[in-house]
Formats: sequence, structure tokens, C-alpha cells
Amino acid sequence: MSNVQIRFLVQPAPALRRSTGVASEDSMTAAATAPPVRRHLHPPPVAATPFPYNSGSLLSVQDLTLEAVSHLLARASLLENLDPLVRDRILLKRRVALLFYESSTRTRTSFELAAKGLGADTTLVSNLSSSIEKGETLKDTGLTLRALGAEAIILRHNSSGAPWLLEEATRLPVLNAGDGMHEHPTQALLDLRTILAHLRPGIEAVSADTLAGVTVTITGDILHSRVARSNMLLLPRLGAHVLLCGPAQFLPELATGAGPGISIERDFDAALRQSQVVMMLRIQAERLAGQQIDLEHYKASYQLTGQRLAAHAPSALVMHPGPIIRGLELTAGVADGSQSVILEQVRHGVAIRMAVVERALADSSTKAGRA
Ligand code: NCD
Repeated sequence: MSNVQIRFLVQPAPALRRSTGVASEDSMTAAATAPPVRRHLHPPPVAATPFPYNSGSLLSVQDLTLEAVSHLLARASLLENLDPLVRDRILLKRRVALLFYESSTRTRTSFELAAKGLGADTTLVSNLSSSIEKGETLKDTGLTLRALGAEAIILRHNSSGAPWLLEEATRLPVLNAGDGMHEHPTQALLDLRTILAHLRPGIEAVSADTLAGVTVTITGDILHSRVARSNMLLLPRLGAHVLLCGPAQFLPELATGAGPGISIERDFDAALRQSQVVMMLRIQAERLAGQQIDLEHYKASYQLTGQRLAAHAPSALVMHPGPIIRGLELTAGVADGSQSVILEQVRHGVAIRMAVVERALADSSTKAGRA
């Protein structure tokens, strides 16, 4: 529960006690002699956002304090190294539903393996093989899953904001596995874990300067990328400089105002020269809404080739959330090359998602703090 919500519950209590009209003998005597007490009925502070309703939810990376991020990183390592026979008792027989309205390979599989690795029972509902196809709303599907015993729902949806709606309807912990062009918080956490493993080995307790001096260039279709957005919201909080690179079509000028520590460099080679990490993105053809792009021109300017990498960033980490389109945003040689940590990202995804699923189902007394 956020601090704001805690204040909301705690502050009005004295005022309520004073207004009950029930008084002890002592207080009645005191009331006869003391001047009348002026009642100050302080309205509870209005929370900046009422979400998340459920403290186990992870809807946005902004829900997490750096302390909570550190806690998740530490739990991820602990759970990853735990004896599987011990680990699978942690959430034994707890029920987790995966609700996927968009296709997914690594996110879905790693969430499922993570939940199963902790002993939970999982069930997958996809838009292609369920009553969603018959027109059932997200709210009704969520309530149905809750009635079936789901204790948490992992949601991927093509509409930005859908996880907030589902959480409001079900009040269950909801884990955002990607909502439209908005956020993908567990991807940002696994990307962070990958970066730390290489640039700050052994560090799990992160702070505002953990990534000071590190420039992460995100290149490609930033406009449509929830991965870019979650990383832009997380990495600068640890001191990283995020450099955005791409054509105006995929990277409007106003993106510089997206937050502190973020700037634009349209020249890919110049961006590479400053980078310790380069994160490549797929062109999200399914979200282009009729926009045309000149692929040859795009590749000439923004494709990550072996030559480009050797010339401008010979020791940078090459990352990609997947799915990768070989020969488009990066060459096959770079994807399979020694600087690529793409498959490591996938592996970190399982550990991070174990920590996030565990947090979703933990008792409130053991929950990690949130913003
Ligand atoms: C991405 C997604 O779905 O947001 N992939 C992922 O989850 N690892 C990126 C993409 O689809 O291009």
C-alpha cells in the first residue's frame, strides 16, 4: 500500500473518535472545566492516483520505489538460486491466471515458468480461444477468472490502460505484461537486471546514482514501444542517461520532454559513440495504422550492423526485448555476436517474474514497499 493510501486510512481516525459522542467519565470532567475543543476535521489528502488498489499489483514501473526495485532484484537472485524442490513450495497450489489478448512468446512463457517454478497452478486464457472472441468484456472475463479462484492475473492487452481497468474491476493483484503502447514494467526490470549483471556486477540494492555515467541508447520504433517507455521511466531514476534514436516518424521531437535524463540523437553513429548499452527495437508493423516506411532508407540509417558496432561501440552491450527481425533492425551477425545479451535478457525474465509473482501473492505483511 502506498504511503498516500496509508495516510488516507490513518489520519481521519482521531477525528472520527472525537465525533462519536461516547466519552469516558474522565473526559466528561475534563470537558466541564476545559475550554471547548475546536474540531478540525481534516479531509484526507487526495491520492495523486488511486491505483494500484491491490498492493501486489505491478501496473507501471512508477509504482515501485527504488527500495522496492532493490527488493525485487534481491528476491530474483535468491529465488533463482533456490533448490527447485524448496522453491516450488513457496506458492504451492496458489492460482495464477494469464490473460493474453496479444501474441507473446517470451513474456508469456517466462511468466508461466516463473509462477510454476514457485509451485503455483497457472491457466492461460487467450483472446483466440476463449469467450473474448464472442465479445465478452475485459471486466467480465476478469470477474469470471476471479470466480474460478484466480488469485492474481497477468494481463497483456492491446489497449493502453487495460490493466488499471482490470484491477479496478477485480481488485485482484494485476501484473501488467504489456498494455498497448504504454508500459511493460517487468521488461524494464529484466533489462535493468541484465545491465547491472554486466556493468555493476553484484549490485542489487540500487540508488539514484547506481547507473551514473551509463548511457543507454534506445533505437528504432520508440513511438509504439511500451518497452522503451518503461525503460525511460526507470533507468534515469538510477542515474542513467537515456538517448533516443530514430526517425521523426518513430521518434517525435516532443519525446525529449518525456522526463529527466532523456535526450534525442538522430545520428545513430553519434549515439553509439556515447553508449555503454544499445537497445534495439522492432518496427511494430501491427501498430503502424497505415503509416508507410521506406525500409531501405531506415536500414541505412538505423540498422545495427557488425561494421557500425565495431566502428562506434566495440564494447557496448547489445540488447533487444524480442521478437527480433534479423536483417531489419539488426543483422544476424550482431544478434548472434559476442556483444549480444539478447538471450540473457530472456533468462533474467524468469527470475524477475518469479519475484514479481511472489510479491503479487505475498501476505501484506511481507510486501515490498511501493512509491
Ligand atoms: C515486446 C512487446 O511485446 O512489448 N516484446 C516483449 O514483450 N519482450 C516488443 C515487441 O513486440 O516488439
